[in-house]
Amino acid sequence: MRTWTVANQKGGVGKTTTVITLAGLLAEQGRRVLMVDMDPQSSLTHYFSRSLGKSLADVYTVFRDRGALTQDKVMESVMPLPFERLSVMTSSPLLATVEKMGSGQSGMGRILREAITCLEGQFDDVLVDTSPTLGVLLVNAIAAADQLILPVQTEFLAMKGLERMIRTLAMIVRSQQRNVPVVVVATMYDRRTLAAQQCLKELQDSYKELLAEQVISVDTKFRDASHAGVPLSYFVSESRGLDAYRNLLQQRLLTSGA
Ligand SMILES: Nc1ncnc2c1ncn2[C@@H]1O[C@H](COP(=O)(O)OP(=O)(O)OP(=O)(O)O)[C@@H](O)[C@H]1O
Ligand SMILES: [Mg+2]
Repeated sequence: MRTWTVANQKGGVGKTTTVITLAGLLAEQGRRVLMVDMDPQSSLTHYFSRSLGKSLADVYTVFRDRGALTQDKVMESVMPLPFERLSVMTSSPLLATVEKMGSGQSGMGRILREAITCLEGQFDDVLVDTSPTLGVLLVNAIAAADQLILPVQTEFLAMKGLERMIRTLAMIVRSQQRNVPVVVVATMYDRRTLAAQQCLKELQDSYKELLAEQVISVDTKFRDASHAGVPLSYFVSESRGLDAYRNLLQQRLLTSGA
């Protein structure tokens, strides 16, 4: 089982879209995939709301019952979706209260990792969506990760915080005494604009090693798929954005050894 965490403290850069699109593509390849919504704003959960019934347990429940996690218990928080091999652990606004559960409490930063470990044998890939806030939830999402994916919008302002963001992530990883590979992914790239071209060039110059060669283009199909509440690969068989995520998986993510 391999866990990928998608993070960036900047909002609206394509984190949730990256989780859902990669999850759809991995499931298509025959892998059993779990998406975990670690964002109290619940965008991922809302995306699939039409397919989900009322859930009695979610990610918050995992944190609430942190002392007594077993596979059966954690599976109560997992909801299968009507797409083969795809499941989701939903979020709710209550998840925000985890930040107040006591970040100083021993083991508080490793609860998601423990929960995912309980699911060994049930899934092949776990994709964790995060909120653009630095706190206990992000620390948990990073502690659970075998690989970090950092989507960055190819836009001047979005790139400005990147350096600091990478340093913060590295600091969290170091404090956990682990080594987690990071891949920066340029998203929402509009090659028709000079500004986007310049941003991409700057990213390529500054982050040679970290930056995935494959860039994710702007594609209106993402919005259409979210409107329909299905992962993009279940909505169209080919599109510029889908092909880009497909290449990203093949060329970088599935070959990184994480
Ligand atoms: N490559 C793309 N082309 C066009 N639209 C995109 C692309 N990627 C994402 N979007 C759209 O941009 C919006 C923001 O994307 P998304 O919700 O994935 O960002 P996010 O980083 O998860 O945001 P937040 O920080 O608020 O959680 C969504 O409406 C999504 O459909
Ligand atoms: Mg999001």
